[in-house]
Amino acid sequence: MPPESARHDLVVIGAGPGGYVAAIRAAQLGKTVACVEKRSTLGGTCLNIGCIPSKALLDSSELYHLAHERFSRHGIKVGGLEVDLPAMLARKDAVVKSLTTGVAGLFKKNKITPVYGTARVASPNSVVVRLNEGGEATLEADHILLASGSEPVNLPFLPFDGRTIVSSTEALGFERVPEHLIVIGAGYIGLELGSVWKRLGAKVTVVEFLPRIVPLADVEMGSLLHKSLTKQGLEFFLETKVTGGRVEGDRVTVLAEAKDGKTLTFEGDRVLVAVGRRPFSEGLGLAEVGVQVDPKTGKVPIDGHFRTNVPTISAIGDLVEGPMLAHKAEDEGIAFAETLAGKYGHVDYDTIPGVIYTWPELASVGITEEQAKQRKLDYRVGKFPFMANGRAKAMDETEGVVKILADAKTDRVLGVHICGPRASDMIAEAVTTMEFAGSAEDIARISHAHPSLSEAVREAALAVDRRAIHG
Ligand code: FAD
Ligand code: NAI
Repeated sequence: MPPESARHDLVVIGAGPGGYVAAIRAAQLGKTVACVEKRSTLGGTCLNIGCIPSKALLDSSELYHLAHERFSRHGIKVGGLEVDLPAMLARKDAVVKSLTTGVAGLFKKNKITPVYGTARVASPNSVVVRLNEGGEATLEADHILLASGSEPVNLPFLPFDGRTIVSSTEALGFERVPEHLIVIGAGYIGLELGSVWKRLGAKVTVVEFLPRIVPLADVEMGSLLHKSLTKQGLEFFLETKVTGGRVEGDRVTVLAEAKDGKTLTFEGDRVLVAVGRRPFSEGLGLAEVGVQVDPKTGKVPIDGHFRTNVPTISAIGDLVEGPMLAHKAEDEGIAFAETLAGKYGHVDYDTIPGVIYTWPELASVGITEEQAKQRKLDYRVGKFPFMANGRAKAMDETEGVVKILADAKTDRVLGVHICGPRASDMIAEAVTTMEFAGSAEDIARISHAHPSLSEAVREAALAVDRRAIHG
């Protein structure tokens, strides 16, 4: 039971990667902290219904796909291969549970008070919580941190019904493999969860409003991923606007308008609407205490130190400007807590990597080639295909390319885009280089273990100066 009447240095609303990390860092720096969470578990969207369960299913479905399609190429024969979906979902749930209870353990270790209930800011220095176990508690605080995250965007003409027309939350736990999954939106969620169910045997059709999948990605790399996913059997309808739909029993019909004005009809048994997420700023009592919220986006405006217009109230994570990514929320949580403790917290928004965990993965940091052109930068490009990388050949994972953009005069790395196996791990080298204002030459001079996939990054860096060894 939380000491409801206690006063804390900091009360955090939301125990996602933004909130729980801020709470831990503030506690490490000597602050007394309470963290309010309306779910019964800690970890927020990321651990409960986001990053972690989606990656657990991506990894399981990838193993099945490899066993089915690729083991024979390695000389491994398997018979009687089948998917045990309840076991796969149970493994995913076990991964989630171990991580959410891990956060509870970290709270205990750092003497953070978890308060399970729905919080509302009652004044610049107090939070009222409707406790999950019943009753109310008032928490007094010197400082309040809003880290309430985001929620899926609903299409008004195709509203979520929790069963047939669903968001990512339900698509992480379909009780059976859909026959035909219609995915609206070819962004992060559509491609990751579309890949999961395709690998497990569903027909998957992705309908995207814009002319490209992953519209914000480097165009060349996005189109590589598009080709690869098409080869894997995902069907794409681009420049196609969904206009409506109807559910009859277990069947659903989605209506859409193609670029040429023709009406398209898609029939399936499940629809995943993945057209973005919006900040969760409602019901927090923000208007009552005078915290500004952007009426268009629902985001809470903050200054360079995460402060809202009310000096004792700060905000981080999906609730504020910037990419809706767990590591961005964590970075902000740490920087906020350090600033609160009188240190110099800082987030470099130019070097936040983004990864789409399809296979091949698409990982990026810095600017795209299109942005370099828009900004009229004088740049050079180095590329290297995994096809020419020894380790990729040994692994039978030769799809994809590393692409490095560097300033033509100074050679400073401007952006790195990796479409390929384990791109999510390899992008870290690019982030480090950019953080230290490094050059393509710097990457090229660093020893990279042989044989390793990371040698493709070095070769791409050499290719910036037209001197790749193996290309
Ligand atoms: P959240 O994680 O959303 O946490 C906010 C918490 O606040 C929630 O637990 C909520 O219950 C609680 N809350 C809200 N209002 C109140 C209230 N009034 N009182 C008490 N509690 C409240 N990002 C990545 O970087 N990598 C990935 O691989 C990735 N995969 C994803 C996959 C999916 C399917 C989804 C949906 C998202 C994914 N994301 C991923 C995005 C990532 O989950 C978010 O960017 C991240 O969780 C944001 O952290 P946050 O702390 O701002 O908010
Ligand atoms: P998204 O913004 O990644 O993609 C949405 C897609 O839907 C876009 O391509 C957009 O053009 C399209 N779209 C929008 N309206 C449409 C319409 N009416 N009809 C057809 N297409 C339409 O959003 P998504 O996939 O919902 O994910 C939300 C956020 O969650 C991401 O932006 C990301 O920040 C986070 N996330 C991150 C992951 C990761 O880091 N690997 C994985 C999953 C989610």
